[in-house]
Amino acid sequence: MTNSGIAVAKLADIDDVLALQFKYHVASIEAEDKSSGFVTTLFTRDQLKSLIDDESGLFVVRQDGALIAYAMAASWGYWSQWPIFAHMLKGLHEVEYCGQRLSAANSYQYGPVCVAKAARGRGVLERLFDFARAQMAKRYPILVTFINKINTRSFAAHTRKLGLEVIQEFEFNGNQYHELVYDTAKPLKVPATGGKIEKRIRDAEERLRLAMLGSDVAALDELLAPELVFTSHLGQVIGKEDDLDFHRSGLFKLNELTASEQRIQIHGGVAVVCVLMHLSGSYAGASFDSRIRYTRVWSIVQNQPWRIVAGHASAVA
Ligand SMILES: CC(C)(COP(=O)(O)OP(=O)(O)OC[C@H]1O[C@@H](n2cnc3c(N)ncnc32)[C@H](O)[C@@H]1OP(=O)(O)O)[C@@H](O)C(=O)NCCC(=O)NCCS
Repeated sequence: MTNSGIAVAKLADIDDVLALQFKYHVASIEAEDKSSGFVTTLFTRDQLKSLIDDESGLFVVRQDGALIAYAMAASWGYWSQWPIFAHMLKGLHEVEYCGQRLSAANSYQYGPVCVAKAARGRGVLERLFDFARAQMAKRYPILVTFINKINTRSFAAHTRKLGLEVIQEFEFNGNQYHELVYDTAKPLKVPATGGKIEKRIRDAEERLRLAMLGSDVAALDELLAPELVFTSHLGQVIGKEDDLDFHRSGLFKLNELTASEQRIQIHGGVAVVCVLMHLSGSYAGASFDSRIRYTRVWSIVQNQPWRIVAGHASAVA
């Protein structure tokens, strides 16, 4: 994606923003999506209109016409209509950052931010954040935001990837929050779209290749998910323990395992790899030399590395 897909929102964007908000708002999100983050502040059409007209504080990303992400940012005056922000504003002056005591004059509140599921993990958040930061930097030196402690994906993204710093924690209405800050004079180093994740998957595929080549059961144990379902080139369906036992038995010895025609697709927390492997070695003393095309599905879940959840193999004549 290029920056041309990112813009300061216009009134015509409001319907699409409301639809995306509904999909990922804590009150209406699908249960299965909640662990990948949710938004809590609920905007009405009029509140979005005011955010656009009075604050120039709504930023959107479109891809092929569809709205795939938005971020909000506005003055504390705008936010004070919601009790949680009024609460944050009260404690603002207790914190110092970049050599200044925070105030409604030198800081603004960033967020909520939301990226559609299919567009996550591809650098959209980084681009959107940096675009919004550059716009707001003209008016404020310091960004302030909060993240619910149970929204671990958002916390990981904002601290590890965007570099926001936690300045304090607070409790509001029975929920625990991190409060974070960012120096708006600091441009973010925006990665190439999807490049970082693709590299992780390529690295994971290489670790898998080496683990298979050396029948390294400990490494395979880390790379295969417990729920693995793998269909072999002979049509057998095997699980993780079958695969580990196969390598533990010592009957299977690979002398060569080379990869070619590797194709990687990233779909949020899932990656699909299609690759042609040339294998030669022996099984129970009988030698083989074959070409097998694999489709592997890698998945990432909370605080875990990428692991294979499914695979399929077909022999190539
Ligand atoms: C939060 C959000 C904006 C982050 O954008 P994103 O594109 O998903 O972010 P990324 O995938 O680039 O980064 C998330 C990081 O958290 C990791 N992660 C994924 N799921 C996780 C989880 N459940 N817990 C902890 N970390 C998780 C990812 O591995 C990734 O790190 P990595 O790239 O180093 O591997 C997006 O997920 C979203 O819109 N969620 C729904 C709404 C929301 O939560 N908004 C924020 C409200 S504060």
